[in-house]
Formats: sequence, C-alpha cells, structure tokens
Amino acid sequence: MAFTLTVNGKTHVIESSEDTPLLYVLRDELGLNGAKYGCGVGQCGACTVLRDGAPLRSCLAPAAAQRGHELTTLEGLQGPEGALHTLQKAFLAEQAGQCAYCIPGMILAAEALLRAHPQPSEAEIRATLDSHLCRCGSHNRIVRAIQRAAKEMAG
Ligand code: FES
Repeated sequence: MAFTLTVNGKTHVIESSEDTPLLYVLRDELGLNGAKYGCGVGQCGACTVLRDGAPLRSCLAPAAAQRGHELTTLEGLQGPEGALHTLQKAFLAEQAGQCAYCIPGMILAAEALLRAHPQPSEAEIRATLDSHLCRCGSHNRIVRAIQRAAKEMAG
C-alpha cells in the first residue's frame, strides 16, 4: 500500500505492507539511522522516535498507522547545517555514551520530558529512562547529561 509519512518536517510517499514497522521504513526506506533496532519487542527503547512530541517505540508501531502524525527522529533535532541540539552537546560534555547504541532513544525521551517539564527532578528523569536500557551502564552519566541540558535550556 502507499501512504504518506511526515518525518522531521518533510513529507514522504511510502510503499510498504500495512504492518511494516515504522523502524524499518525510517532506516531502510528513508535512510534515517538514528533509531536503532535493539530488542524488536518494545522493551529496550533503542528504536524510540517522537510522534507528535511523545515517545513512540518504532519497532512495534506500524508505519502505515502514522499517517497524519508528525514524526521526529534524532536527525530532526539538529539545527541548520547539522548544529547539535543542546541535549546532544550535554551528552557529549558528560561523556554519557560508551557504545552509544541507546543514546538516540535516550535523547528523544529526554527531549519529550524537557518539553513537558523543563526542570525535572532526578526522580522524574530516572522514571523517564526506566524503560530505556543501556548495556554499558552509563545511566548516571545520562542523568547528569539531561540535568545539564535542562539547565542550559533554562539559561
Ligand atoms: Fe524497539 Fe527495543 S527495538 S524497544
């Protein structure tokens, strides 16, 4: 079937079966590799994107069901000429990524959190990241990076 998807402000015509996961369309059809395949069953958060500003597990969500929604991937957070988003800079400053496989999902979850709660408590940050797995064990640095970004965005 053919349908349109709006990703990072651009509209694309997609041809895929009705149940093809959004993650596959983003990576294989649109070349947006920010979202990662981790578990494939909605449990690790590596595939997280934003749908109308809210986190969505793209490994489970059919692409065809996203018609009419605004989707944002990690690539969509960057400014003109690839300028890094404040969250990306904060993750670098705190050296929050080791293998970094989980980081795109973490950053998008943090972006949704900071939009809703610009000054979250540490408990709110940890609750947001609860369903995002980091196999390198960088969670404390990731929390610090989000706190740093919140401060910088407020300042
Ligand atoms: Fe989607 Fe793990 S790959 S939640």
